[in-house]
Amino acid sequence: MPKTLPSGPALPPAVLRAEPTVWRNPHRRSSAAVLPDLALAEADMRAAAARWHRFAPLLARLFDGLDGGRIDSPLTALPPAVAESMLPGAPGAVWVKADHDLPVTGCIKGRGGVYEVLAYAERLAEAAGLLRAGTSYADFATQPFRDLFARHTVAVGSTGNLGFSVGVMARALGFAVEVHMSHDAKDWKKRRLRALGARVVEHPGDYGLAVATARDAFRDRADAHFVDDEDSTDLFLGYAAAALDLQRQLAAAGIAVDAGHPLVVYLPCGVGGAPGGVAFGLTLLFGDAVRPVFVEPVAAPCMLVQLAAGLDRPVSVYDVGLDNRTAADGLAVASASMLVARTVGPLIEAVVTVTDDALFRWLRALWDGAALRLEPSAAAGFAAVGPFVAAAGGADLGRATHVVWTTGGAHLPDAEFEAALARG
Ligand SMILES: Cc1ncc(COP(=O)(O)O)c(C=O)c1O
Repeated sequence: MPKTLPSGPALPPAVLRAEPTVWRNPHRRSSAAVLPDLALAEADMRAAAARWHRFAPLLARLFDGLDGGRIDSPLTALPPAVAESMLPGAPGAVWVKADHDLPVTGCIKGRGGVYEVLAYAERLAEAAGLLRAGTSYADFATQPFRDLFARHTVAVGSTGNLGFSVGVMARALGFAVEVHMSHDAKDWKKRRLRALGARVVEHPGDYGLAVATARDAFRDRADAHFVDDEDSTDLFLGYAAAALDLQRQLAAAGIAVDAGHPLVVYLPCGVGGAPGGVAFGLTLLFGDAVRPVFVEPVAAPCMLVQLAAGLDRPVSVYDVGLDNRTAADGLAVASASMLVARTVGPLIEAVVTVTDDALFRWLRALWDGAALRLEPSAAAGFAAVGPFVAAAGGADLGRATHVVWTTGGAHLPDAEFEAALARG
């Protein structure tokens, strides 16, 4: 395998050696320069939020414990001792956006996956003439709707958490569900899907191959919808709507976000949809005051490789001699979403790569110090805070707020969690 990209700028040698790196994005441009040229705009994010709102009565009916039918997580301050261990001596508060405990799905992928199933269900219901003036969306749980959905399949390729998110929502509405996964995806995630009544199809290759195979299998199927983790606008907008939730929570906590008070948001990145959607939404709301930092495993820095290459064709981590092997299963992705790279690439402040050892250390530290139950992928953000701030050299971050997005883990079986703790 060549150790340099076929063309475009070479990658930092440390990335090629699979060593932790802070890559400051040389292609970052101002939001004012980027946003007007994008195919998606603030109206799209607000339309997504409106759809979430329309479906709130249904979600409240189908799932216990939802506050007003909303799928959102708290924003909480880290205990000062833990924040201090992340940012020794540096001012600035560290907050956690607790999607590891997102209601219904226990992971950030629920924001996109649940949303896309709702969007599909709404289109089907509309086409079937089931939506009349005054129809309550809670009626989506009634027999005529369920009969319609039962004649349709929702399919998805997933490292696990998207499959679960899509599966839990689609099964609750009565759809058939098919989830395509690489054979080395976590067994407990496969078991959990089968328990929902989903069909799990295992593929011998990696996640990207599972997605590609499933996409082909479902092309032209009028009775099915394929949720495309690499290329779905609905997923992207489902994630983007989270920015409005965070904006509300920051305001309620009295946290200013403006040129003098930057908001640094640490987002674990797999294919890029979840962090990309969130970064897009936050940039719409806060402009250049938000600094999205994507975090990837040293063996699978697909977004870093894609953006550093500066090419408009896919570049994978295999192309540069990396092996995509990481305990962070949700981030074990060799090729980034081109939709995300093209849309959000110039808005990303930096990509930080972290070792698996660091993930397990932080997973342990966050359990001991803050009682956060994280899966390895979800600990990535914490491992990135110190290196990012150190690399920034303190530049204008003195009054920054740091938000670490924890992306999954609350549903981890005890044995899995204890094994992960033991590695920290
Ligand atoms: C726990 C967790 N964190 C982060 C991500 C990254 O999301 P994306 O693949 O959309 O970049 C995933 C993806 O499955 C995940 O499961």
